[in-house]
Amino acid sequence: MFALQSAHAATDAERRAELVAQARALLEGERDRTANAANLAALVFHSLPDLNWAGFYWLRGAELVLGPFQGKPACVRIPLGKGVCGTAAAERRSVVVPDVNAFAGHIACDSASRSELVVPIMRARPGDPQPRARPGDPQPGVLGVLDLDSPRAARFTEEDARALEQVAAIFVAATDLD
Ligand code: SME
Repeated sequence: MFALQSAHAATDAERRAELVAQARALLEGERDRTANAANLAALVFHSLPDLNWAGFYWLRGAELVLGPFQGKPACVRIPLGKGVCGTAAAERRSVVVPDVNAFAGHIACDSASRSELVVPIMRARPGDPQPRARPGDPQPGVLGVLDLDSPRAARFTEEDARALEQVAAIFVAATDLD
């Protein structure tokens, strides 16, 4: 049984470092995509304070489709380029939204959400010269996104984005993706 260690982390920086280390340990020895995404969603949700939703959307054609998550039931399909999730996928970058009400096009799944962080899940890993495209891929290199919601305004920082990007890279390296 995997034991969460978060009781030991006192500061945000320590929590982030512990999350990255635990993500690596949690996925070791398992390459199944659903299992790894489900366990990562649970790890993130229970490791970081003040979250009401944490989970994955997978890019299917020109839409993001809901994947494993923790939190209330959510919107199932998000067009590429729409909402915070669709923006992160379309622009291949992490998006930190301090106030979801001030983000044009934000898609409200849980009315409790006040701020949001979305990190793209990129097939290409750091050091790869090119995104590894597949034929017919509308957004080469993008597998989906990892989405975190908080009921607290301005919950997420750029440091959080960097840590979750590391978690996304760990997932890609540890998992069979096709
Ligand atoms: N708020 C997101 C939609 C997904 S839910 O937050 C789980 C967005 O604007 O893309």
